[in-house]
Amino acid sequence: MTPSGSSAPADILRAYAPQAGLRATLEPFARDADLRARLAANPFLMAPMAGVSDAAYRMMARAGGAALAYSEMVSVAGLHYGGAKTWELVLPHDPEPDIAVQLFGADPAQFLEATDLICERLGPRLALIDVNMACPVPKVTRKGEGSALLDDPARAARIVAACVSRAHVPVTVKVRSARRSGEPEVAAEFARAMEQAGAAAVAVHGRTASQLYRGAADWGVIGRVADVVSVPVIGSGDVRSPEAAVRMLRETGATAVMVARGSYGNPWVFDDARRLLGGVATEAPTIDRRLSALCCHVMLLEATGAHLARARSLAGWYLRGMPNAAQWRERAMRCATVGEYLQMVEAIRLACEALS
Ligand SMILES: Cc1cc2nc3c(=O)[nH]c(=O)nc-3n(C[C@H](O)[C@H](O)[C@H](O)COP(=O)(O)O)c2cc1C
Repeated sequence: MTPSGSSAPADILRAYAPQAGLRATLEPFARDADLRARLAANPFLMAPMAGVSDAAYRMMARAGGAALAYSEMVSVAGLHYGGAKTWELVLPHDPEPDIAVQLFGADPAQFLEATDLICERLGPRLALIDVNMACPVPKVTRKGEGSALLDDPARAARIVAACVSRAHVPVTVKVRSARRSGEPEVAAEFARAMEQAGAAAVAVHGRTASQLYRGAADWGVIGRVADVVSVPVIGSGDVRSPEAAVRMLRETGATAVMVARGSYGNPWVFDDARRLLGGVATEAPTIDRRLSALCCHVMLLEATGAHLARARSLAGWYLRGMPNAAQWRERAMRCATVGEYLQMVEAIRLACEALS
């Protein structure tokens, strides 16, 4: 039992993941091969998502077969000041075997310090460090952080070199195609500079920063980066289904693929993509599995100390497309405890049985 009286996350996974068609134990990101070989062995990763990819979300993704899951982006300045809330974003929860930590900031000295701190505290549970050079939010870019680094490759290279000088794990970067739509694409040239600075892989989100998360992603840029760097490229953007994940791998020359919004309410997307890559057809998860996954996810939220308000959007995602989904989503908005969510799920099960 956790201090709040709920079961421990490992017990929750053991008890509830199998009935949702998910893994009860989470596999580590293999350490005994180089990064390209590790990525190729299972090329489907859970993307970093601020406000979403907390410990419960990462566990569900890995229970669904993600090779690795990223933290939300973490401020190197926040780590410098040692805030408990910032550390909460970084530290993996049991039973997460390991974690990819994504850092953002603009000061190479703070990245160096953050790398030291993270390596020391996480030790073997740190799988890699990723530097965010993609975030388009003005609050971030105004300070020269996130995608603003695309305009300052010399500083970006110093940041990578600082992390590499201290990290016992691969240091990677995540970029956008360019800062502003209509301006020349910078990703390929920028990625080469990051490779020279020591980056062990480059993740490419095929949108400009000014697109934010709207409009179709351009997968062409992922291929253009893969053509000019010798480190692995990880593609991102519009991977909304197992089919899209496999198509991105095949069409772009990326070594691996990040699933972001495509994992909303769909932790199975990772294993499904892997099966599809191996030539095995997949089926959409049943209502029963989706309801079981929602229960498991909400229990994990509570067990990891997350705010239960996050369960509202989760419920919306898991219930999408079910009979009377709008009515159930409204009920989810009124749920304040895990018990109320479980009761709601029971009511949905009964209602669905009555319809069938
Ligand atoms: C809610 C949300 C939060 C995100 N937070 C981050 C972040 O912290 N770091 C990052 O590199 N990308 C972040 N992203 C971008 C995703 O990792 C991904 O690159 C992007 O959503 C494109 O993939 P998609 O079109 O398949 O969703 C975020 C995306 C969303 C939707």
